[in-house]
Amino acid sequence: MKITEAEFTGSFTERGKCPPAVFPEFAFIGRSNVGKSSLINMLCNRKNLARTSSTPGKTLQINFFLINRTIYFVDLPGYGYSRIPKKDRLRIAGITKDYLKNRPGLTNVFLLIDIRLPQLESDRRFMEWMASEGIPFSVVFTKADKLSQTQQKNHVEEYKRKLLEQWEELPPVFITSVKNKAGKEDLLRYIEELSLMTKRNSS
Ligand code: GTP
Ligand code: MG
Repeated sequence: MKITEAEFTGSFTERGKCPPAVFPEFAFIGRSNVGKSSLINMLCNRKNLARTSSTPGKTLQINFFLINRTIYFVDLPGYGYSRIPKKDRLRIAGITKDYLKNRPGLTNVFLLIDIRLPQLESDRRFMEWMASEGIPFSVVFTKADKLSQTQQKNHVEEYKRKLLEQWEELPPVFITSVKNKAGKEDLLRYIEELSLMTKRNSS
């Protein structure tokens, strides 16, 4: 799939205010600063479509992007950023989970993980929660440019091994970097496949 048109639809403070769920939807979630907004920009060949920042806690609302007039990308606030007051963190987490759990049209969630970090409790808990809610998700490792090819391979193998201690089956896994566009074509192909499947099932 080639993205030829990507347009910002709007930022929404809660699920009830989001646009009608008329397109297959792909959401991007993960810890603050992991690279969710950057990944959306890479997939869309745009520099500033989704706002990014080197300081965590940049995205605080549910941001919709209409892609090729046929699918939505949804940039979600990150979790695990301790400098946001707890009350606000809990509120944002509540909004995000309500969106993920109850949004019709949500085709897949991409859970982003910084490839340099060991398995984090917050990511593990989030995966468990999605699985318990029956929300389909894939794992996307980010910032692969920060490691050598061998380190990437070792890290991902170790991560998968840890996951298999807990899960019977692994979710699809992608390795990406916005610096060298690694993983871009694989992800776009996967998104296209899933959205065609969704359309076929709903027609
Ligand atoms: P929040 O909105 O705060 O939850 O963060 P986010 O997950 O949307 O992260 P964002 O896309 O804003 O990126 C955070 C920082 O990581 C920025 O400084 C990006 O330039 C950097 N970054 C993102 N992806 C990559 C990558 O693949 N490689 C490298 N080297 N840096 C990256
Ligand atoms: Mg962001």
